[in-house]
Amino acid sequence: CGIVGYIGHRDAFDILVKGLHRLEYRGYDSSGVALVNGADELHVYKAKGKVSDLEHAAEGKDCSGTVGIAHTRWATHGEPSVRNAHPHVSNSGNLVIVHNGIIENFALLRDQLKQRGFHFNSDTDTEVLVNLIEYAQQTHHCNLAEAVRHALRKCIGAYAIAVLDQRDPRTLVAARKGSPMVIGIGENDSEFFIASDATPIAEYTKNVVYVDDEQIAVCHPGQPLDITDLRNQHVDVSVKTIDMDLDMLDKGGFPHYMLKEIFDQPNCLRDCMRGRLFAEDDMGGNDAYDPSTGYADPNVHNDVVLSAVRNNRDRLLSASRFIIVACGTSWHAGLIGKQLIEHYCKIPVEVDYASEFRYRDPVIYPTDVVIAISQSGETADTLAAIKLAKEKGACIFGIVNAVGSSIARETDTGIYIHVGPEIGVASTKAFTGQLTCLILLALALGHTKGTIDEKEYVDMIHELNAIPAKIEEVLKHNEDIRLLARTYTYATNFLYLGRGWNYPVALEGALKLKEISYIHAEGYPAAEMKHGPIALVDNMMPCLFVATHHKGYEKIISNMQEVKARGGRIIAVVSANDDEVSKIADAVIEVPDTLAPLAPLLSVIPLQMLAYHIAVEKGLNVDMPRNLAKSVTVE
Ligand code: G6P
Repeated sequence: CGIVGYIGHRDAFDILVKGLHRLEYRGYDSSGVALVNGADELHVYKAKGKVSDLEHAAEGKDCSGTVGIAHTRWATHGEPSVRNAHPHVSNSGNLVIVHNGIIENFALLRDQLKQRGFHFNSDTDTEVLVNLIEYAQQTHHCNLAEAVRHALRKCIGAYAIAVLDQRDPRTLVAARKGSPMVIGIGENDSEFFIASDATPIAEYTKNVVYVDDEQIAVCHPGQPLDITDLRNQHVDVSVKTIDMDLDMLDKGGFPHYMLKEIFDQPNCLRDCMRGRLFAEDDMGGNDAYDPSTGYADPNVHNDVVLSAVRNNRDRLLSASRFIIVACGTSWHAGLIGKQLIEHYCKIPVEVDYASEFRYRDPVIYPTDVVIAISQSGETADTLAAIKLAKEKGACIFGIVNAVGSSIARETDTGIYIHVGPEIGVASTKAFTGQLTCLILLALALGHTKGTIDEKEYVDMIHELNAIPAKIEEVLKHNEDIRLLARTYTYATNFLYLGRGWNYPVALEGALKLKEISYIHAEGYPAAEMKHGPIALVDNMMPCLFVATHHKGYEKIISNMQEVKARGGRIIAVVSANDDEVSKIADAVIEVPDTLAPLAPLLSVIPLQMLAYHIAVEKGLNVDMPRNLAKSVTVE
């Protein structure tokens, strides 16, 4: 879910709705807005569906006011409906709230409030919370911030909330625990912006405060932001500057964010490697230069430089084991990370779904290094997994895209992915960015440890440096893949098969198709096909093979023959100039040759494009597929 709040001198409605659009990727099954107008009257408008539906619902109504709160929802409690949409109003009609997160003990609290005469109109935990605040106001005769504090002390669970009282429209109160929250501060404290992340704030101010767990912020225009904790102790307000380019948030001429983000990948990976990967060119120069002189640094030759590895050398090298925790696409990147770190660093690596890891009572030693991979940096399961590992003394290394996010702040060290905000719900550029970071990490660590052969190190550096240009080559197949996609819209099932480095790519390709085209797709290690999935193969079943020219290539050709013999249809991603596979496959998509550990960076691109075009052909909403949310801040 996403929340936005505004208090100041401008029209709140425009700011809130624009902010909701920016946050829509966080959930979009219903949305709503609450405003207090110049006559201190509260107006609440809600709609099922997208933010544009909310705009229609509010058309012609009183949307005036310089203070308001708004919400876009991804249902956790109660079906998506207007009744369950936020904002929720208290029984007296004075208080209004938006909430992101889950109040776990809401049923008990609701019973207690019912006994005290409160009634409820929705199935949500949020309505319980706003009435709990109202109850605190009534019993403690206190101001809104104080009432919020009393109420939150009774809540178990996660929340980011913004609350308004129509009787005091110059005050907006916000609080968080476990769910993200940023507050933007306008010039001379004249206005405040509240949001789940900085994207709705960036165009108004660069000065932000990341609210921490169990903190309550009071925004009162003309006065400095006031933050206290649940025990009513004052907290120092630390203002950070955000650096977010607004162009990065727009579609840049592409019909969907997802396609833009697919095409952004060459430049994103250049950004990700900048200042970290140094490859000598043919002239012996390199791209490590001293900005003050403009000259290349003669001391840096082919090298990978990661300050996180340099500064934590002993801790990382003495690790007896690495554990990678992540969810979704990030977990797929983790599977490749395992192969990279084991191959180059000779350190055993386990990869776990964060949600499984945290609930399993895992064995964690203080000598372990836990790598958390996350695009959003807010995934609740991943955050909880690293908190658990931290308690047990492990070192936490983050590979995160969203700068300043909760996971980034919770880790001991790490590397940012630096691919810019990802808006499309189906992750693309964040995945290749995560892979790039894992490659850099494995190379830097292996080189420091001495477990990587010098020639292999230099070859990898050169090849990695060439990857963005090779992705540009793959992107040229976009039109062919669009035409190919038309043939497969009929499918209701798909198999994605790959081996070795490409096995996680098969999983990721299948996930992409599922997410946006709603076609059931299964990713499998190609050799495992004969142990079960082959039973599914018939002439209605397309099988996509990731069959680049690396170890296991001959074996995967045998797997293709097995599918062919059963009438299955084959699409294959192959290395350039492959003439074997085209004899068997119905369609082939070529990717440039590269070293095996880098193959996923190229072979995943056609799978992203295929999923995209099949979904577009089917007329589906690619950027906002049903039931999904980009950032899942519930457990
Ligand atoms: C959600 C998204 C996925 C994403 C996963 C992990 O389910 O829909 O695309 O891979 O969360 O997100 P993270 O931000 O932690 O990488």
